Amino acid sequence: MRATPVYYYSSASGLVRAFAERLDRPVLNLAVREHRRSEVDGPWVLLTPSYTTGNEANDTIPEGVRRFLRSAHNRRLLVGVMGSGNRNFGRYYQHAAREVAARSGRPVLFEFELAGTPWDVAEARRLLAALDAALATRHAS
Ligand SMILES: Cc1cc2nc3c(=O)[nH]c(=O)nc-3n(C[C@H](O)[C@H](O)[C@H](O)COP(=O)(O)O)c2cc1C
Repeated sequence: MRATPVYYYSSASGLVRAFAERLDRPVLNLAVREHRRSEVDGPWVLLTPSYTTGNEANDTIPEGVRRFLRSAHNRRLLVGVMGSGNRNFGRYYQHAAREVAARSGRPVLFEFELAGTPWDVAEARRLLAALDAALATRHAS
């Protein structure tokens, strides 16, 4: 069965990266130029942190994520979004993940804070395994 890959963005602090690398499936970092310029080979999941900029537009979506989503092919094959955030940001909590989901019409599959707890990792693995199975069934029919 195909393991749905997770494309993620993580800054130098690496919290999202630490989470992504525990998912036991292909994970690709959109902070890496080669990855953010690539095109997916099938359904994929986005995992993004939110970064409040403080400017008027308050764009919280990391540039690497924005760049990757410029591809219509990538947008079409996106199946869902996961977010990492910090509740201290109040109404901007998970703003980037929620905005991508709203704009693409895809669900927010899972949200967690910072690098996530062991429970968060287990839950995300479970969700992604269920997604793999659902996509395999869809493909077979
Ligand atoms: C400057 C800055 C702005 C942030 N803005 C938000 C925000 O608007 N909403 C939110 O939920 N989390 C916000 N966070 C928290 C990060 O999204 C969270 O810590 C994430 O795990 C960082 O992942 P990374 O270390 O992989 O980049 C912010 C963190 C920093 C340092």
